[in-house]
Amino acid sequence: MLYDHIAVNGQGHLTISGYDAEALAAQYGTPLMVLDESVVRSRCRVYREAMAEALPAGSLPLYASKALSFKRIYQLAAQEGLGVDAVSAGELYTALKAGFPMDKVYFHGSNKTDFEISFAMEHGVGCFVCDSADELRAVEAEAARRGLRQRLLLRLTPGIDPHTHVKINTGRIDSKFGAAIETGQAEALLREALDCAHVEVLGYHCHIGSQIFDHAPFCDAAALMLDFAAAMERKHGYHAAVLNLGGGMAVPYVAADPRIDYAANIRKIGALVRETCGRLGIEPPAVLMEPGRSLVADACVTLYTVGAIKEIPGFKNYVSIDGGMTDNPRYTLYQSAYTVYLANRMNETAAGRYTVAGRCCESGDLIQEDVSLPRPRRGDLVAVLTTGAYNYAMASNYNRVPRPAIVMLGENGPYTAVRRESLDDLIANDL
Ligand code: LLP
Repeated sequence: MLYDHIAVNGQGHLTISGYDAEALAAQYGTPLMVLDESVVRSRCRVYREAMAEALPAGSLPLYASKALSFKRIYQLAAQEGLGVDAVSAGELYTALKAGFPMDKVYFHGSNKTDFEISFAMEHGVGCFVCDSADELRAVEAEAARRGLRQRLLLRLTPGIDPHTHVKINTGRIDSKFGAAIETGQAEALLREALDCAHVEVLGYHCHIGSQIFDHAPFCDAAALMLDFAAAMERKHGYHAAVLNLGGGMAVPYVAADPRIDYAANIRKIGALVRETCGRLGIEPPAVLMEPGRSLVADACVTLYTVGAIKEIPGFKNYVSIDGGMTDNPRYTLYQSAYTVYLANRMNETAAGRYTVAGRCCESGDLIQEDVSLPRPRRGDLVAVLTTGAYNYAMASNYNRVPRPAIVMLGENGPYTAVRRESLDDLIANDL
């Protein structure tokens, strides 16, 4: 199977960490997201332990909570000793209500509103990741008004294309995020920040992309950032104590995808950081990383009930499910590959190719096209693997479809962590 925690039991049912998918669907209803706590915890530990061992003191993974944000996930991150990357007042508020320590929160976003800046300071957010000169000025003004000194990192664009693994001087520089090293804007932002009385610059941040299988682009980005750090140290006498390398390590979604050794990648980045700092003659900074997908994606399976089946001879076969782009828009948006099973008939041989269609009035509402499945029947159970990241987080109420429940598999058994949206939830804000 694609992952160790996915198997098939004697009844031919898919199991998730030993729990029968059909029994979970019967108990909690569908569509249902089943998220295994132990997979999330063990991945947090891989990052935390490898980073503590291979990187300078103070290095830490921060959970990029844009991947999946609800109260319980922040509690897991806190218990596992991680920090958090939050990107909006909504994510900050969720973390706050979950009891997550605000001093371990890094506040991201390329357009933080005045309200969000004030809200974050009011609740003692540990560090801003400052994206622009405009934001810097707004943060300085708000920190001055409050009589505090706000810690921050400066978000920079090192000019790396992670998917071709080539250093480029133009591509990523036109990103809407951060200040480009190449154009001199990064240096200008640093100089302005160092002149701000109510700001303490801890160091730099970069994020080169997502779903990156190779370690090399991270090493390239780290090297470019350290070159910049050393240049700024020589020129302005400023030592960056922190380097945040962002998130982006991939997760296999289908059997053909390579498996990733996260600890080995971290060790390679650690070796690169030590070697580069030695060569440049600078003190190695503490390294932060912001994994999102690789902490939660493969921990989750979404279960759907089959409804209508439509076979169009010579053209296409559709199997309709009781969810779709409203809970997982990633095929619609990115044509993302997923592993799909008929979860209650795992041992039956495939009868043909079926396109898994959602229930929205939208031809593009598909979860996956042309999947080999046994001939589905109304009432069967479809399982889609690897749905922990950027599914629920990107869910919508299009067609007024309620969002699914999230059931977590904890130490003491399954429990509901996010209630299924009700019809009344859908009209809660309608006056
Ligand atoms: N840090 C920053 C600043 C980011 O922008 C992101 C993701 C992360 C960390 C986490 O990256 P990860 O480890 O999850 O790759 N909706 C897209 C993914 C967008 C990623 C946005 N930024 C998808 O469904 O594939």
